[in-house]
Amino acid sequence: MELYNLKQPGERVNFAEAVKRGLGQEQGLFFPASIPTLPLDEAFWQSDFLTRAEQVLGAFLADELGQETVSALVRDAFQFPLPLVPANEQQYCLELFHGPTLAFKDFGARFLARTLSLVARDTPMTILTATSGDTGAAVADAFFGLPNIQVVVLYPDGGISELQEKLFCTLGENIHTVAVKGSFDDCQAMVKAAFSDAELKAEYGLTSANSINIARLLAQVVYYFEALAQLPEEEREQAVFAVPSGNFGNLTAGLLAKAMGAPIKRFVAATNSNDTVPRYLQSGQWLPGPVHATLSNAMDVTSPNNWPRVEALFERQHWPLSELAAERVSEPQTEARLKAMYGEGYLSEPHAAVASEALVRQLQQGEVGVFLGTAHPAKFQGAVEQVLDIELPLPEALAAVQNKAILSESLVGEADALKAYLRDRL
Ligand SMILES: Cc1ncc(COP(=O)(O)O)c(C=O)c1O
Repeated sequence: MELYNLKQPGERVNFAEAVKRGLGQEQGLFFPASIPTLPLDEAFWQSDFLTRAEQVLGAFLADELGQETVSALVRDAFQFPLPLVPANEQQYCLELFHGPTLAFKDFGARFLARTLSLVARDTPMTILTATSGDTGAAVADAFFGLPNIQVVVLYPDGGISELQEKLFCTLGENIHTVAVKGSFDDCQAMVKAAFSDAELKAEYGLTSANSINIARLLAQVVYYFEALAQLPEEEREQAVFAVPSGNFGNLTAGLLAKAMGAPIKRFVAATNSNDTVPRYLQSGQWLPGPVHATLSNAMDVTSPNNWPRVEALFERQHWPLSELAAERVSEPQTEARLKAMYGEGYLSEPHAAVASEALVRQLQQGEVGVFLGTAHPAKFQGAVEQVLDIELPLPEALAAVQNKAILSESLVGEADALKAYLRDRL
């Protein structure tokens, strides 16, 4: 597989190199030089999830890693169900939260961890990542205890839920967690600065596990095919996907699936009031504003780092950007949708509610909506309980960490503070 740097198209690497480096020169994102298409015949739709996932990822990676290796990675990484559940008459939820840390990120993080340990062999590496909530848990769980790999996770102090924090800041060993006095964008800026420091990068073998890492992104492509496979055949060509978006990794993965031939009618990018993209699509002006804290806090991002990939894909595929619908969903609208869904018999959480609301606005007659269920409702227990006025039982994965001590250290939101931390702790 060949990839190029979106900022410096002359920089070309294979998959192993892109996975190890995370970002290219000038912090450019790696992107596939060509996108394979799949023969989407009856046999493809009739087979099981793992077989389909082997084919989807094999189309990208078999030339470099061999199909047998790809299949082994897939079978080791994706060991949990992903049901497509009817939420109301026109909408389904693709529930991506049945993995070990109860969020969609388990797909990308587990695939990345296994891929990285395959391609890194015996070279010590440090995963450096910023999280607005769920990435931290998924990455920490996926890498916990792996030899030769240290993990450093930055998150905004007070900007994630208490239970989210418990999930990844209580592990210890090779998992180092840092509560940054600042926003998620500050955390991302610190990570970016560390990656652009060539000396630091080489000294610690820094690599990223954010959705900017191509291995994570490719892993996410598989579940769009899965949603289509689980739809009744007569609805497959009418599917509109609403993607609850923060950094726009999930949307990029969906667009890659469409470019590979997945019969997805169109996409709706759903954001909360951090609406840089919906405003951009309307006005043509990229104006990231200040970050607003919302109920769907994992989407409180105003400078989405995957956006260059979205634009590159539209350009490459000759799709007009105007075909991408976007909806901004306010806090009262999120709450109202969460309540309405509960009334319709489906218990959800704020991120998925934002996407479901986008479908309510966008779906036309004859279309069927699929929104991504990106996190288990219990991960946003406080918000869900308060909005719905119910008590949510804790799933096992969360109950197990509830009373553990947080092991994080606190840092100011400056690049130099991170540098000093790495020198002290690793
Ligand atoms: C629960 C949840 N939903 C949605 C998103 C947004 O996904 P993306 O950053 O790929 O747009 C995130 C990202 O962290 C998340 O944790």
